[in-house]
Amino acid sequence: MAVVWLKVFLSTNTITPEECVLICLTLSGPTILDNLKALAENKDYVDICELRLDLLSPEEVPKAVDFPSFVNIPVILTLRRVSDGGKCTMQEKARRNLLIETMQKGGYAYVDVEDDVKKSDVEEAAHSLGMKVIRSIHDFQGVPADIFSRVHSLASRGDVAKIAVTPHNIADIMTLFRINDELKNVPKIIIGMGEWGVCTRILYKKMGSMLTFGSNGKAVAPGMVSARDLKLLYRADKLNDNTGIYGVVGNPVMHSLSPQIHNPGFQRIHYNAVYVPFLADSIRSFLSLAEMLRMRGFSVTVPFKVDVLKYLGNITREVKLIGSCNTVVRVPNMWKGTNTDYYGFIHPIEKEIDEGRIKSALIIGAGGAAKAIIWALKMRNIKVTIVNRTKSKADELATLYGVASDKLENISLYEGKVDLVVQATKMGLHPYEDVNPAENFKFTGKEIAYDIVYKPKYTKFLLAAEKAGCTLKFGWDMLMEQGKLQFESFTGYHYPKEINLDF
Ligand code: ATR
Repeated sequence: MAVVWLKVFLSTNTITPEECVLICLTLSGPTILDNLKALAENKDYVDICELRLDLLSPEEVPKAVDFPSFVNIPVILTLRRVSDGGKCTMQEKARRNLLIETMQKGGYAYVDVEDDVKKSDVEEAAHSLGMKVIRSIHDFQGVPADIFSRVHSLASRGDVAKIAVTPHNIADIMTLFRINDELKNVPKIIIGMGEWGVCTRILYKKMGSMLTFGSNGKAVAPGMVSARDLKLLYRADKLNDNTGIYGVVGNPVMHSLSPQIHNPGFQRIHYNAVYVPFLADSIRSFLSLAEMLRMRGFSVTVPFKVDVLKYLGNITREVKLIGSCNTVVRVPNMWKGTNTDYYGFIHPIEKEIDEGRIKSALIIGAGGAAKAIIWALKMRNIKVTIVNRTKSKADELATLYGVASDKLENISLYEGKVDLVVQATKMGLHPYEDVNPAENFKFTGKEIAYDIVYKPKYTKFLLAAEKAGCTLKFGWDMLMEQGKLQFESFTGYHYPKEINLDF
């Protein structure tokens, strides 16, 4: 039953893996049927798959002999040991025998053999069956200093060299992107694992990697991106030498929704570009990577919005006055910084300001995010008071922008006295969903309550305001508006109206 069903759903093209760069679905289900289902669900996104024998339940393992006959894309056979991040606890000889037994009927395209396996029985069996051998190294601690020579020696032992390592900083990421300069003609698979490696999984073609592994929704390995996102969101397999690289730099950064804003925009206007999340240890090191990848622009998020200023050769008036930058574009010989946060913030309340409904505002928080907000409100002649847990920080901003300040404890003193209340801290955002910094503030119902947190849409702060009957403004809208303006800075085109960003 499963056989017929899958044959119907999978493409009938047979692909020679060496001919193109591929998206590989890692099959991690406990049964053969689960894996066939996963493959059917991902049939439009992947060109090759890897069956993880070590993740099958024991009674399903013998059925794996027939697995390749159920599908018509190439299959990699892998029986990963615990020491390499897998679940196989068998004795080494028994493990190799199981690989050989599973391969015996033929049909598998590749078998993965770890670099330290000295016996050549699996390789010999593979070659006699017309299969290719992937020689692999896994390093869960870091990126080995001798990575180039290791890839080289791996390639001399197998048909394809595979190295899965764990970068911990931008310097490690740069090492991975350099592999292809040194070892251009070596057939290889390069994977940066963990959160740091996400950009390498998306930009795998830049590393000269034969394939990238994608998951069926949930990550099988840390930092793994779904096959669907690799194919549809990032178009990872379509990137070429002319593809412009953009991204968002931050720490943390993986929660950022900006890839979901920019990538569909690029695709809609047929702009050959990709937008990738980059975790960074410092903005300085990130800029080295950005130069290396010849990036055309990037968004800046926490905690680099102020740090980035000293590396910019050109800034707009807004950046200068606000003191923070969230958008950087490449101009000849330098980086230019702009700020779209202030516009993103003000756009959703523009109408109320024009109608004279907002004459005074209370800003909760005095961090980087508050700066653009205070400046934007000041520009509209709105009377601003900053309240912050640490009073000195509120005072600092108040002096900078010529507004009033107070400590957060005094927030109730402003009840009924302000038209707009802005929650400008990260309280409300995961993992602080239960925190409302304005807990002691009683809304009268006449205020406009605005939260810069966009996920969840309804924070505790907004729920309290809604209960009192206030008009609500969402961080979501702010995010979208700043993103659209950013898109214009990146591409020179308006953000396509047809795209519905209510994901
Ligand atoms: P960002 O640059 O993203 O705004 P930040 O500089 O760390 O981040 O600022 C976070 C803001 O959230 C600050 O105003 C901070 O108050 P302190 O200046 O007292 O640190 C505020 N904040 C953080 N945790 C808070 C909490 N539990 N209650 C109230 N405010 C909090």
